[in-house]
Amino acid sequence: MKPIIIQGAESSEIDYLLEKLENKEEISIGNYLFFKGNYEKKEVIISKTKVGEINSASATTIAILNFSPKCIINQGTAGGHGKNIHKGDLVIGEKYIQINSLFSNYLEEGKGSNIENWVIQEYKSKDDVTQNYNHANKDLLKLAKNVIPHISKNPVHIGVIGSGDMWNKEIDRILYLNEKFETLCEEMETAGVYKVSNSFNVPAISIRIVSNNEILKEEYEPSIARKCQEIIYEFIKRIDLKE
Ligand code: 5AD
Repeated sequence: MKPIIIQGAESSEIDYLLEKLENKEEISIGNYLFFKGNYEKKEVIISKTKVGEINSASATTIAILNFSPKCIINQGTAGGHGKNIHKGDLVIGEKYIQINSLFSNYLEEGKGSNIENWVIQEYKSKDDVTQNYNHANKDLLKLAKNVIPHISKNPVHIGVIGSGDMWNKEIDRILYLNEKFETLCEEMETAGVYKVSNSFNVPAISIRIVSNNEILKEEYEPSIARKCQEIIYEFIKRIDLKE
């Protein structure tokens, strides 16, 4: 049976999932850690991706090539982008926008640098025919939409994740991303995960818990990652493993 990969960037984002894992076997590939085991009859592999989009893309590639997973669930913390998104809320990532993929127009020497003039855009080679590699798998999305609101006591938002190696604390920048691209939150791994998973045609979804909201002055609380894992653990139970 093909395993389900569950990813978390940091130890605090996989600790509960590891406590629950039966027949745990640690596998390290390069500098990346995977924990193989099962939840009752389901084979799962917990992947510690490490932080950031390069790490998440690498860990996703390694997982796909070595374990041929049925699907990939990425989960962890994120910073809220809306005024109505609070610490503890869940975000289901329908798609991502890469918030650190930027282009700046020419400015001559002495004219300085102004991020407000930078444009977010996707870079790809002219002969790259792949498109729309920024979205969650439709079936997993449907399942998550149906199931997560019943598991989570807090509100569940569905939409765009702002992803990229960047931690925004300027409120105007956060509001710009929220208004222009409808970002619900920001984090650093989903871009790498969706891009690679879509390239290999492996279903993936990112489900995040809001750990901070700079707009609302709700401070970063990394330990909230445990709540997200509890919800993911319940979600996994509902994934049908028919091939
Ligand atoms: N901005 C960016 N990344 C965040 N994370 C949690 N909150 C934020 C935020 N406001 C997550 C990232 C990364 C780690 C630094 O925390 O996904 O894994």
